[in-house]
Amino acid sequence: MNAYAEDLSHIHDDGFGMIARGAAATLLDALAAAGLGPADGPIVELACGSGISSRILADAGYAVRGFDLSPAMIALAHERAPGAGFEAISLYDAPIESSVAVTAIGEAFNYLFDERAGFDAMNAVFTRAFEALVPGGMLLFDVAQPGRGLPRAEHTVWTGDGWRVSSETIEAPARRRLSRRIVSHRETSDGERRTEEIHELELYDPEELHSALCHAGFSVKALATYAGEYHFSAGHGGYLAMRPRTA
Ligand SMILES: C[S@@+](CC[C@H](N)C(=O)[O-])C[C@H]1O[C@@H](n2cnc3c(N)ncnc32)[C@H](O)[C@@H]1O
Repeated sequence: MNAYAEDLSHIHDDGFGMIARGAAATLLDALAAAGLGPADGPIVELACGSGISSRILADAGYAVRGFDLSPAMIALAHERAPGAGFEAISLYDAPIESSVAVTAIGEAFNYLFDERAGFDAMNAVFTRAFEALVPGGMLLFDVAQPGRGLPRAEHTVWTGDGWRVSSETIEAPARRRLSRRIVSHRETSDGERRTEEIHELELYDPEELHSALCHAGFSVKALATYAGEYHFSAGHGGYLAMRPRTA
C-alpha cells in the first residue's frame, strides 16, 4: 500500500514533529551521559520519516543513516538533512551497521504496512541492533500498546497551514490491533485535495516487550517523556534500551 504518501507526509512533517524533536534531544542527552559521541560511530534511524530527528543528530556531528518505507518521507528527509544518507526501504531490510545508537521513533514497529511486521520481526531487530551497537550504545524507540485506542472509538481533527487532517481510531483488544482511518485535506494550486489512508497497527504488551529486550541483552529504561517535548500517555510507551558495557 502507498502509506505516508505525499500529503500525509507533508502534514506529519509540518504538524507532528514534536515526537522526533523530543526523541532526538533524549538521545543526545543519553549519549552524552554514556560518554559516547560522534567519533564512536554513526546513528541508524529506522522509519526516519521526514528526517526531523536525523537533522538534529547530524547537526550534533553524528553520521546518520535513515531508512523509511515511504518515498515521500525520504524525499523530505533528503531536503532537510542533505548530509545524511537516506534510503526508501523497509526497516526490516535496513542494514544496521556498527553504531552508537539505533532509533525507531513514532510507533515504527507497530505498523503492518510490511507484511513481515509484528512482534517476532521487532524482536529480530532488537537482536540485530544489540549486535551492531558499540558497548554503551543504545536503542531508542516507542510503541503503541494495548489501550492506545480505548475506551471508545476516537475521532480527532488537527489543522495547520494549508491542511487539516482527521483520524478515526478503533482498537480491537482481543486481536491486539488498532486501525486508524486518516483523511487529509490539503490546499494545492488546483484546489483542495483529499486523501485517505488506513493504518493497521499491532499492539505490543509492555511486559512481553520488556522481557524480549532483556533477553536480547539490553538494560531497559521506560520513558515518561521524550525530553519534556512529548509526554507518553496510556497505550504509548517509550524505551531507551542500552547495550551494557560488559556485554
Ligand atoms: C509516525 S511516522 C514517524 C516518522 C519519524 N520517525 C518521526 O518521528 O517523525 C511513522 C513512520 O514509519 C514508517 N514506517 C512504517 N512501517 C515501516 C517499515 N516497515 N519500514 C520503514 N518505515 C516504516 C512510515 O513510512 C512513517 O514514516
